[in-house]
Amino acid sequence: MLDFDSKVFLAPMAGITDKPMRRLVKSFGGGQMVSEMVAINAIQRKNPKSYKIADVRDEPYPVVVQLVGGEAALFDDACKLAAELGAASIDINMGCPVKKIVNNNSGSYLMKDMKLAADIIRTAVAATGLKVSVKFRKGWDHDSVNAVDFARMCEDCGASYVTVHGRTRSDFYAGTADWDIIAEVKAAVKIPVIGNGDVANVYDAEKMLKYTGADAVMVGRGALGNPWLISQIHDYLEKGVAPTPISPALVKDTLLTHIKELTAYYGERLALAVSRKYVCWYCKNCRDARRFRENYVRINNFADAFAEIDRYFDSLKEE
Ligand SMILES: Cc1cc2nc3c(=O)[nH]c(=O)nc-3n(C[C@H](O)[C@H](O)[C@H](O)COP(=O)(O)O)c2cc1C
Repeated sequence: MLDFDSKVFLAPMAGITDKPMRRLVKSFGGGQMVSEMVAINAIQRKNPKSYKIADVRDEPYPVVVQLVGGEAALFDDACKLAAELGAASIDINMGCPVKKIVNNNSGSYLMKDMKLAADIIRTAVAATGLKVSVKFRKGWDHDSVNAVDFARMCEDCGASYVTVHGRTRSDFYAGTADWDIIAEVKAAVKIPVIGNGDVANVYDAEKMLKYTGADAVMVGRGALGNPWLISQIHDYLEKGVAPTPISPALVKDTLLTHIKELTAYYGERLALAVSRKYVCWYCKNCRDARRFRENYVRINNFADAFAEIDRYFDSLKEE
């Protein structure tokens, strides 16, 4: 069994599931947090940005720290550092489709090089006492679907659980995630399996668990502008509590809290830029949001940003 408190994981998403996002998602309740991916060669170069991403010491809940890299030997130091910086366990990214990552023998490239993948997992498992998991895809492309063999290899090398995203590298994020492959992996290994791909609400989560037999679900894009989703899924799976609609007042409060967290973490200038994408996501289901979004992305100071947020949400109270 998975020894996490929840059957729902917030997926690692570079540039999104940073500390401000994790703190916000956790403020609503249950769910397991995972960091953005941390490049191990950047850690070796002592890149301050990567250290900052890997540092989860002041978060009062367990955080899985995800590492990405293609040199097995570097995983020893990187895992030790992640442990020092507070990781509850370590996940290895073997699914990222981005060219820059794949060209570095990392991410989903490793699905084509099982020997290197195995060396990496063994090194990571031996590095610290922390558990090591692996996140990967259905395969490199539709002619080389190998998730089942890959999962068996992960298990043999000492991985504690695996996460399977039901798309190939060549799919990137397009099309529908294949939940059958998740079920096939689940049937093939004894370690827990987390299913990932296209879970956008509590009912999808329940359906995926039933369909695949997976031990937990991982949710990525569904949580963009919807930080309530993870705790909603947690409460639904654990207690059968159906989600209640999110009011515009709660959207506004949450957006303001998110901006406060971004400011504390990134400083004012960067936080304003980062907040633009969240404003667009938060308002994707709100009435007449187009002009608000267009105005917000042009604003370059927080006084105007807060005034624009007030103006928009006040307009939703009228009528
Ligand atoms: C913007 C973005 C960034 C991502 N960054 C990571 C990452 O750092 N590590 C990782 O393993 N997967 C990453 N992913 C993939 C997600 O974790 C997840 O596997 C994928 O989005 C499918 O799940 P979903 O359908 O719930 O979104 C990223 C996805 C997106 C959209």
